[in-house]
Amino acid sequence: MKRMLSGIKPTGRVTLGNYIGAIKPFVSYQDEYEMYIFIANLHSMTIYQEPKELRQNTKDLIALYIAAGLDPKKVTLFLQSDVLEHAQLGWYLGCMVNMGELSRMTQYKDKVSKNETIGAGIFNYPSLMNADILMYDPDYVPVGEDQKQHVELCRDIAERFNKRYSDTFKIPEPLVAKVGGRIMDLQNPTKKMSKSAETSKGCIYILDDIQVSKKKIKSAVTDSDGHIHYDPINKPGISNLLEIYSILSNKPIKDIEKQYEGQGYGVFKNDLAEIVGQELEKIQARYREITSGSYLDDVLEEGAQKARNIARKKLAKVERKIGITIKKK
Ligand code: TYM
Repeated sequence: MKRMLSGIKPTGRVTLGNYIGAIKPFVSYQDEYEMYIFIANLHSMTIYQEPKELRQNTKDLIALYIAAGLDPKKVTLFLQSDVLEHAQLGWYLGCMVNMGELSRMTQYKDKVSKNETIGAGIFNYPSLMNADILMYDPDYVPVGEDQKQHVELCRDIAERFNKRYSDTFKIPEPLVAKVGGRIMDLQNPTKKMSKSAETSKGCIYILDDIQVSKKKIKSAVTDSDGHIHYDPINKPGISNLLEIYSILSNKPIKDIEKQYEGQGYGVFKNDLAEIVGQELEKIQARYREITSGSYLDDVLEEGAQKARNIARKKLAKVERKIGITIKKK
């Protein structure tokens, strides 16, 4: 069985973009792959998190993974901070990446261009991510479009390590869905739907009130030509809605275009609002069930133990190869 690994930061509330770009694909892969899915809470520290909110967002994220259909019996679910080896391997790998490579990362450049004061964690972010990935030798890393560059850097670093010290890490492949890999802001469809958007009008949160979510879909920005057709360059708004529709209804975009031929945006948006509402209702009901009791703590404890078993061995191997370990065996 091929192996897959991915993570999501518990920063802010989980969005429809995270759900469509990451969580839903994870669910579809769980029968076919050996999966490791974690909460990237160490990465969330790169931007200040209010401790109470961080705790809540972390719990929500684990619960949402499961509510969306991930089965902890099939998938190893864990907190990044529960496996201390990640930070240690991140240090070694951080010593192998060049400043120039880190400076070229879009996520870092975006932050710098906003002239915000940023912590060094944002710059070093990819090294910890490289450790998250390489620790488990996954074949694939399913991510949204925005994270592809990080996985590509990870491949370069794995190759560099293997060349310098001998074969140690599997070279992972990023897996970005053709549809749904980049869900856009509903009010500004040329920008990614993001937890950190300035206003929440264009962003649907999975735990949003259902009526509010439907309203956000109905008031999504489109264009004036009234033709339901997929063309992300010239019709970004309607194309984004078509992607959301396609993923949530499991219908190819071409079929949806045909279904709505000759009809206006109003009918299409109303139907999509219903589809989104139903999907969220299903997830929220399951979320309420699993957040009562100690179920989530048990899931995380079991996941951490499985992950630690792999991580311990991998780190020991790395430390032998690079000369950190001085004991013979
Ligand atoms: P994060 O928390 O920003 O996002 C989690 C996942 O959701 C995807 N995503 C989207 N997909 C489609 N449309 C959108 N609008 C959208 N917004 C977010 C992201 O691409 C991502 O797949 N660095 C990672 C977390 C991480 C990680 C890892 C991932 C840490 N270590 C190792 C994979 C492997 C991040 O910030 O994701």
